[in-house]
Amino acid sequence: PAPGWSVEADVVIVGSGIAGLSTALRYVELDPTGRVVLVTKDVLSTGSTRWAQGGIAAVVDPSDAPVAHMVDTVVAGRELCAPEAVRTLVTEGPEALHWLIDRGTSFDRTTAGELALTREGGHRARRIAHAGGDATGAEIQRALSDAVKAEPRVELIEHAFVPDLLLGNGVARGVTVHVMGEGERDGVGAAHAGAVVLATGGIGQAFASTTNPEVSTGDGVALGLRAGASARDLEFVQFHPTVLWLGADARGQQPLISEAVRGEGAFLVDAAGRRFMRDRHELADLAPRDVVAQGIAEAMAATGADHVFLDARHFGARMWQERFPTILASCRKHGIDPVTDLIPVAPAAHYASGGLTTDLHGATDVPGLYAVGEVACTGVHGANRLASNSLLESVVFAHRVAERLAQHAATAADPASRAAGAAEEPPDGDPSSGLVSPTVVPHVRAAMSRYVGVVRDAEGLERALRELDALAVDSANADAEPGTPAWEATNLLTVARTLTAAALHRARRLPACRPTARTEPTNVAVLIGGKAMSVDRSR
Ligand code: SIN
Repeated sequence: PAPGWSVEADVVIVGSGIAGLSTALRYVELDPTGRVVLVTKDVLSTGSTRWAQGGIAAVVDPSDAPVAHMVDTVVAGRELCAPEAVRTLVTEGPEALHWLIDRGTSFDRTTAGELALTREGGHRARRIAHAGGDATGAEIQRALSDAVKAEPRVELIEHAFVPDLLLGNGVARGVTVHVMGEGERDGVGAAHAGAVVLATGGIGQAFASTTNPEVSTGDGVALGLRAGASARDLEFVQFHPTVLWLGADARGQQPLISEAVRGEGAFLVDAAGRRFMRDRHELADLAPRDVVAQGIAEAMAATGADHVFLDARHFGARMWQERFPTILASCRKHGIDPVTDLIPVAPAAHYASGGLTTDLHGATDVPGLYAVGEVACTGVHGANRLASNSLLESVVFAHRVAERLAQHAATAADPASRAAGAAEEPPDGDPSSGLVSPTVVPHVRAAMSRYVGVVRDAEGLERALRELDALAVDSANADAEPGTPAWEATNLLTVARTLTAAALHRARRLPACRPTARTEPTNVAVLIGGKAMSVDRSR
């Protein structure tokens, strides 16, 4: 349907987690007249940010150094990280952390008033700042949400799904917006702007079991692919090793048991009580996340169990209450008391190390389209993100996107010509073409969790791709009703097929599926909705 309403700004940002909010706030700091429209699928705080527990990594301790943070990041990333992106992250990280403090985030402090720092997997130094003990993301989300609500030059549109980009002469000129609710902006509309920033978060809902909230359906990656942007490293899905195991039938978002719990001395044991991480890695339970997830998968296979256990009983009631109140409450809600019980855990999908390919200022290869945070891939995470680098990445690169936008503000088209340019069709033609039925979603998740999980092989990935392709063919004839469930299902299937094709490509070249040095050929082409999508494998 034709847009029933429209709105104009200098920048439209899609997504309201740490990446989107930091971009908006920094942009209006840098451009004294800049105006932002910030569109979010649910309400301001429903994204992944508020679920982040452990913290945000940055070099603030005088005994630590950016180069040490860089080494830990690159080692965790299996040396597939883009060095310049990592250098940027670690050197600009401390300033980003202080910006969060200036914008009202209250981090935990020592009795001497210094930032309290913890450790997580893969870090060889204490460099992780946290808030509320284990509620770091919630505190950051609170502070940034308050700041955005108080900023008159940022207009917020909630309950707004963005099906597609609007292009004018090949340049991103805005987005189509479908608002679900009451008010003057109900129904289908358009947001016109000089630039579009995707900050839509991750893809965890493509799997049966994930730490991600319901909104993490890969919308930004799918939108970018449809618009002709390339993605990279999508196959590098990070599985968090310690997610509370609630039974073999548990589906959807599962409670996280932060790595900081191991950072403070908890350890893993298998069903026989054996500390299986000790002989697997020099850092044992604090090895990088992929090593621990793999260790757990192998321990489960060896014992036939579908979970292992985390032992933190020695913390005692007081430390649990003071340091990890959120996790304590979540375990107790599910009938487990970590003060006296072992905590049953298993890996679950957690983070997309890959995403839309961007430069170090968030630019994708569609002019005018930027991506930041989990939806983006600067290459900073390589094959496996280092713990607590994600919140940091979001702020560091949000600031860089904002700088680029502010520099270009003076030369951007005026609002009238933006609206005229954006009169062109979205890249897919009719945005409702190729919609898949929401009934495919459980099947997508089942295939992804079974064949594209922690342990993968070429045979399983081929099977997953066949199943996903069959779902695409079957649902193409299903006449799905346009609306959030069908758009999300379409995006999940797009991301699942692209990711699986990339993983299969890697598995065929490297049978043990082990990431290795940059020997990959360029570009995997995947057919989505009859169009060839390019996955950049050039690194
Ligand atoms: C955690 O607290 O274990 C998660 C932190 C992260 O994903 O970086």
